[in-house]
Amino acid sequence: MSLSETARAVREHAHAPYSGFKVGAAIQAADGSIHAGCNVENVSYPEGTCAEAGAIAAMVAAGQTRITAAHVIADSPRPITPCGGCRQKLAEFAAGPDMPITMANLDGVERTMTMAELLPDAFDRGHMIR
Ligand code: THU
Repeated sequence: MSLSETARAVREHAHAPYSGFKVGAAIQAADGSIHAGCNVENVSYPEGTCAEAGAIAAMVAAGQTRITAAHVIADSPRPITPCGGCRQKLAEFAAGPDMPITMANLDGVERTMTMAELLPDAFDRGHMIR
């Protein structure tokens, strides 16, 4: 399955009984492997996790630490964009500032932006070195 097909398929598994908003994410790692995640909500609302976080956790568990491309999909009027926290999470593992993130909705509308466009002037480990 392609990155977009994987994201669309995993979205079906989202646990979103509170928001009713199912999200699917798929990321490609440097070795070519694809890792999927969906949002997993909780009755204690702040304990819920985003689709991107699930995909990143699956990638790291599989032994990969570099994302070369990402795809996020939801049933939204405009292509969904990753939330602020997920932008920071993606930046942690992005292969570089040009890493493409494709955002999509179920109607087939897609938009691609780079990591740096989605999170300009990101806080990174360089800020911690004096
Ligand atoms: N959500 C994601 O999974 N990813 C995002 O980037 C935006 C929001 C989820 C969290 C919550 O379960 C639902 O969408 C509504 O906010």
